[in-house]
Amino acid sequence: MRIIRTKNYDEMSRKAAAIIAAQVIHKPNCVLGLATGGTPVGTYKNLVEWYKSGDLDFSEVSTVNLDEYRGLPREHRESYWSFMHRNLFDHVNIPQDRINLPDGTNMDADAECKRYDAVIASMGGVDLQLLGIGHDGHIGFNEPSDAFDMGTHCVDLTEETIEANKRFFASRDEVPRQAYTMGTHTIMSARKVLMIVSGRDKAEIIKKAFFGPVTPHVPASILQMHPNFVLVADEDALSLV
Ligand code: PGA
Repeated sequence: MRIIRTKNYDEMSRKAAAIIAAQVIHKPNCVLGLATGGTPVGTYKNLVEWYKSGDLDFSEVSTVNLDEYRGLPREHRESYWSFMHRNLFDHVNIPQDRINLPDGTNMDADAECKRYDAVIASMGGVDLQLLGIGHDGHIGFNEPSDAFDMGTHCVDLTEETIEANKRFFASRDEVPRQAYTMGTHTIMSARKVLMIVSGRDKAEIIKKAFFGPVTPHVPASILQMHPNFVLVADEDALSLV
């Protein structure tokens, strides 16, 4: 595990974008695993800027997103499909047919999870997986539990996650209660994992996840065992370690 300490959110975003850009330059037809949430917005902004200035070309890149709310149509402003288009896909040249997210409108959970795992397998796995971390240590929507989940599965969101995500919706009641998420095994199979973290409110969980025992009660802790894991975090997020 490598830790890159940055002064603040902006520097974290630039460093993370630089690592992703290096991946795309080294392997133009790479598979990028992408994440949503507040944290990656700045990273995507840098990638868009570098694409627009002609420094990056995504024409051979494929993407797989970590997760999607179950039951939310793509067109809903808060679907992860919409988030990704608004923040990245609408502004760079990743071909539409190489963009993959779980289909939140497929209510047959079993079929959808199998389909998504098959998509990832058919691409030969993920070259670089971008991740944030939840206050409870979740990665994707892999919430604390008694065992690490394997492949893509359907989860019930915890009260803490519903609470954290309600800022994006008109009211708490509108936050979907379930999601499809890549499993921990899929995330661990990525050839490189890049986690970005910013803010004092994440300091406690960073200490627990990366300086405590590996346990499914803190899902991100399993990344301690990943052979190519980079944590890019700002001073506030690292203030307790
Ligand atoms: P955030 O979410 O980037 O909005 O803090 C991270 C996560 O829940 O994985």
